[in-house]
Amino acid sequence: MLLAPTPDPSALRDPVTALWEGPLAEDLARYHEALDTALASQADYLSATEHALYQRGKKIRPLLLLLCARLVHGSGPLPQKAVNGAVCLEMLHIATLIHDDIVDDSLLRRGLPSVNAARGTQTAVLIGDMQFVQAIRGFVEEVDAQRDIELVKAVLDTAFRICCGELDELAAEPGWDTARLLAHYWQTIERKTAVLFGLACEAGVTLAGGPAADARRAGFYGRRVGRAFQVMDDLLDLAQDEEASGKPQGIDLARGRFSLPLIHAMAELGPDHRVSRVVRGEPCDEAGLRACAAAVRGSSGYATAYAEARAQALDAWRRLRPFPASAYRTALGDIALHIVDRAP
Ligand code: IPE
Ligand code: IPE
Ligand code: MG
Ligand code: MG
Repeated sequence: MLLAPTPDPSALRDPVTALWEGPLAEDLARYHEALDTALASQADYLSATEHALYQRGKKIRPLLLLLCARLVHGSGPLPQKAVNGAVCLEMLHIATLIHDDIVDDSLLRRGLPSVNAARGTQTAVLIGDMQFVQAIRGFVEEVDAQRDIELVKAVLDTAFRICCGELDELAAEPGWDTARLLAHYWQTIERKTAVLFGLACEAGVTLAGGPAADARRAGFYGRRVGRAFQVMDDLLDLAQDEEASGKPQGIDLARGRFSLPLIHAMAELGPDHRVSRVVRGEPCDEAGLRACAAAVRGSSGYATAYAEARAQALDAWRRLRPFPASAYRTALGDIALHIVDRAP
């Protein structure tokens, strides 16, 4: 009798987990050591909430940084500054998450009470500031060459643009037409999300000593991955439950954020549809929000947004072509595609 082949369990894991547990396992151990060191100076101010926050999350930005470092470095121990850079990048990301949960009045993050929920808004603002400052200080400490100074400038520029993006998001006006909302959306996500993904990739190449042209190319890839990632996050907001995402479901709809699927769905359903009224600020109970989310999922605008995320991911994938073939280049390509393969 022919036995069915036993599936290799590693092939079934998502590529992010498979990379952390496989080729990047040593880098991850070093990442955690460097993280403990980085957090030690804040020990008096951090509670169990922030420590748990740092232990959770997909860590996709540090993963991209380390993979891009390996793209130019190959196998063998990475320079310590690449590992430290990965920690600083996650710290910068966590700073934005802490502040974002205040702005969005969101009480759940990474499956746990957000910092504002656990410690109040006043403390959360200051803890978020502390993560911002310490992240940038961490990058500055790695400066030992002229080109590292360029990287510090890029980090400051990125941090500034993330703040701009978060403010831009709040500035969208309900009265704008679809074309204006769309243009504003793409500019907002470029700043609030894509630039940090771009920085991860650029910094990985730079901190591993790779050439500036490669860093620039990696940055192009990263920004496109970041755009795809944010559009998918906006789709998953309408489709994924709290247990899967670790965040409140439907919060973009509830807070009146003009996300890409919502803009497309509003254009299709018309201004009098409940979805359009809720996004423009009409109060709505839980059952109404669920019905609105279902209406958006059933609209072709939802599929249009998904197609746009896929187009960005494929563009990212193509941007890897100039790099010589390697397991790391393949992994970066797989990540771009995996981001849009998470079923919306
Ligand atoms: C959340 O990022 C913020 C966005 C840009 C959508 P992630 O989805 O990477 O969150 P964690 O790091 O896994 O918690
Ligand atoms: C915020 O986007 C991205 C950041 C700069 C943190 P979202 O508001 O969609 O992120 P989530 O969904 O809360 O993670
Ligand atoms: Mg949010
Ligand atoms: Mg979101």
